[in-house]
Amino acid sequence: MNPSPQIIVLDAGGQYCHLIARKVRDLGVYAEVRPSETHAADLASARGIIISGGPASVYDSNSPTVDPAIFATGQPVLGICYGQQLMAHLLGGEVRKGDKGEYGLATLELDPSADPLFAGLAGRHQIWMSHRDVVAGVPEGFAVVGRTATCAVAAVAAPARNLYGVQFHPEVVHTTRGKELLTNFVFRICQAQRDWDPSRRIPVIEQEIREGAGSRNIFFFVSGGVDSTVAFTLCVRALGADRVRGVYVDTGLMRAGETDFVRRMAGISVEDAQEQFLTALAGVTDPEGKRHIIGEEFVRVQERIIDARHLLDEHWILGQGTIYPDTIESGGTVKAALIKTHHNRVAGIQKLIECGRIVEPLKSLYKDEVREVGRELGLPAELLDRHPFPGPGLAIRCLCAEFDAPLRRDPEGWMIPVHSVGVQGDSRSYAPVLAIHSVDQTAATEMINRLSGVNRVVAAVATRTPLADMRVSACSLTPDRLARLRAADATVRRLSHESGFDHQVWQFPVILIPLGTAGAPDSIVLRPVDSVDGMTAQSVPMPSALLDQICAELLQQEGISGVFYDLTHKPPGTIEWE
Ligand code: XMP
Repeated sequence: MNPSPQIIVLDAGGQYCHLIARKVRDLGVYAEVRPSETHAADLASARGIIISGGPASVYDSNSPTVDPAIFATGQPVLGICYGQQLMAHLLGGEVRKGDKGEYGLATLELDPSADPLFAGLAGRHQIWMSHRDVVAGVPEGFAVVGRTATCAVAAVAAPARNLYGVQFHPEVVHTTRGKELLTNFVFRICQAQRDWDPSRRIPVIEQEIREGAGSRNIFFFVSGGVDSTVAFTLCVRALGADRVRGVYVDTGLMRAGETDFVRRMAGISVEDAQEQFLTALAGVTDPEGKRHIIGEEFVRVQERIIDARHLLDEHWILGQGTIYPDTIESGGTVKAALIKTHHNRVAGIQKLIECGRIVEPLKSLYKDEVREVGRELGLPAELLDRHPFPGPGLAIRCLCAEFDAPLRRDPEGWMIPVHSVGVQGDSRSYAPVLAIHSVDQTAATEMINRLSGVNRVVAAVATRTPLADMRVSACSLTPDRLARLRAADATVRRLSHESGFDHQVWQFPVILIPLGTAGAPDSIVLRPVDSVDGMTAQSVPMPSALLDQICAELLQQEGISGVFYDLTHKPPGTIEWE
């Protein structure tokens, strides 16, 4: 039995909402997430309340709100991002659209006189921002105690009323002193007591699996990646090996060597469905279209296997390695915006979820927690340290175009008419890419904040022909292009492994874009990122010797015209391009 939550996080649809609850639990205090509109009376037993961020504007109709009575109970309340704006709005302050957005790293200047929330934190700190709206006027009794170059009201406090707000995100790792701020809120202000041991996870999860499965068996899709392997192992521990069947589907969208890696894993059979997936994807260029098709094809494979092996339907349920970011970025919590539909959140799967026919042991955990659970289970480091690879595989790294289109000269560089997905102010964006000539992450962040209509900046690091002579050409997901991407990915993986760079990055996607010349129609984008949980990420500087070597080898490859280097953090970009 979990204790009654001392801290309640009110969910206003923020991408990091559950991360807030988890960060509080990591401090040893039990916290839970509740819908933002929960009545004050139902929150009375909590020692403190945190209002999360969210994609809406406080002035939008139907935007998430909270019961205003929570501000009058004397219980401490901390508003984060949208939470701060909502608190200001409901208490008579003013919120308006900022002159420009602020996405990614920023520097916070905190007043020395700052209140208990900021104890020990006066001065300048790196913080993480993701917003466009700002608080323009604070309610009575509030003082502004922190600001950034772009945001005049980055931290507010009304200690006499026990109310606090921050525009930035203390829950993400990129806010360097975020943990101390949450510690101040939980212990100094809310006076919470330690009542939670984060290592109690495994028995709790195993019990949930037994309850979810009842007398039924579990049919589990594994990919050879960290999440599905950890989830599969938990199911086997919970139910016994004879009640759990692991299947790896070769979709034709896997990287070089992947299927052979899985063949060496115990208890998993391999299903060849390459033709099925590639036929279903033929001619599809839209990223969400690809994602939906891939998810649905997985469901078909499952049905086919159940039929062919005469497994009785009602005696089997599906197991998946879904982790928390997959759910939230698919718009899977009540108010979160759809960023991407993860392959395990398509309609066919939603139907199974509604009928109680899915078990997802990791669905409230983040990647780093999954790795910790894997370590506690004794899984080998070789497996746990693998970089994440997305379920839809190379399909979402092989970009397609419906029409031919030229590049457009821009004062900052070249606009490439290839669209990619981003996440800005908790909402999805889908916008063209700006190519610049220098590898400068700071300049890239500044440009995205300034230029509307761009969510990604890449550096053109090596091209066979000048950018002016390159164009985007109409193309789709063909076996040839997938083979081209697979070869480039294998080259990059080999070189980054040999140089030790793969240990310095969290993930290193390699993307094929239809940009080039008649003889060499594609280009490669390198996307090395650092992250903790996949929810936020930073573009990582690459050693120049490695970059040179990668460019030299890739430009030798058939069909490749150029090599680009993605300088975009998440937000405003996402890790994958689609
Ligand atoms: P984004 O691109 O949303 O990715 O910043 C965050 C992390 O999730 C991975 N990813 C997926 N993983 N199924 C998965 O299992 C999916 O549909 C999917 N889409 C993205 C991505 O590789 C990154 O680690």
